[in-house]
Amino acid sequence: MKDTIKALVEAFGPSGYETEVIDLIKTMVGDHADEMRVDALGNLIAVKKGTGGGKRIMFAGHADEIGVVVTHIDDKGFLRFLNVGGLNPFSLLGNRVRFANGTIGVIGREKGEAKDISLDKLFIDIGANDKAAAEAKVNIGDFGIMHREFTDLGQRLIAKSMDDRIGCAVLVEALKRVNDTPNDLYFVFTAQEEVGIRGARTSAYDINPDLGVALDVTLTGDSPEAPRMEVSLGAGAAIKIKDSSLVTHPKVKALMTRLAQEKNIPYQYEVLERGGTDAGAMHLTRSGVPSGTISIPCRYVHSVSEMVDQGDVQACVDLVVAICEDTLAELM
Ligand code: CO
Ligand code: ZN
Repeated sequence: MKDTIKALVEAFGPSGYETEVIDLIKTMVGDHADEMRVDALGNLIAVKKGTGGGKRIMFAGHADEIGVVVTHIDDKGFLRFLNVGGLNPFSLLGNRVRFANGTIGVIGREKGEAKDISLDKLFIDIGANDKAAAEAKVNIGDFGIMHREFTDLGQRLIAKSMDDRIGCAVLVEALKRVNDTPNDLYFVFTAQEEVGIRGARTSAYDINPDLGVALDVTLTGDSPEAPRMEVSLGAGAAIKIKDSSLVTHPKVKALMTRLAQEKNIPYQYEVLERGGTDAGAMHLTRSGVPSGTISIPCRYVHSVSEMVDQGDVQACVDLVVAICEDTLAELM
């Protein structure tokens, strides 16, 4: 599974430009899905048909990642930019940006107090001598991502865009492992989550599921002086109870808890103060869809070095497979 994760986290896919990621996932799941389609917004929907009499389950992991968009190029060839999704200016300094054509730049800042740092004080230096040289490589409106390689620490892994390629990797692995089931399974690799949970909204309308489950990262409270939060790296799949986009349906919480207990899958409950996932859109689809989120605990979310634990990742795969193969008594 490490190869799958490495390939996914190193791919280029800022919100709206997920094609490279989607094409990669197609090659990973093609042999295991009965149908695959990419919809108008760029969501990849991989379907595994049930043997009949079951429910329609939609799983969503977002294919996009946070990034930048170029807004201005000055006479000396420095680029100004806006965020695509939530960027913390403190995590950007000295880091590198990569554009779709392979151009790489470093993020620098204007003079001023470190505490006053904000995106409008930052610029990207692509090594160009003047505006014309910069424009030969990058144009206004070009999207870039943070540039950083995958690092394997053994039990734990670090990369940019673990949010949410690790959720995509969990779904890829689960789709490979799932056996015959009465349920119709829709594995959706969604577009544009980071800019407002957009791809999940349209794909959920299309699929009209009986159950919605998002796979996404969540914060942890286990690093020095971390904000208070009862989620730890290595303590298992995090069953979300609530965030700002969703209250997990009590039936879905009961379903996930029962399956984790029955299958001896390590799990923990997650209450997230701020933030949302694709489940925020799924549960408001049409006349409403019971939904929940399985979160992969992750340190340093939205930095270039997001860290996950392989034991947690495996627990999330096991829980997704268990849901796929269950008769879902709680939802009857
Ligand atoms: Co995110
Ligand atoms: Zn995410």
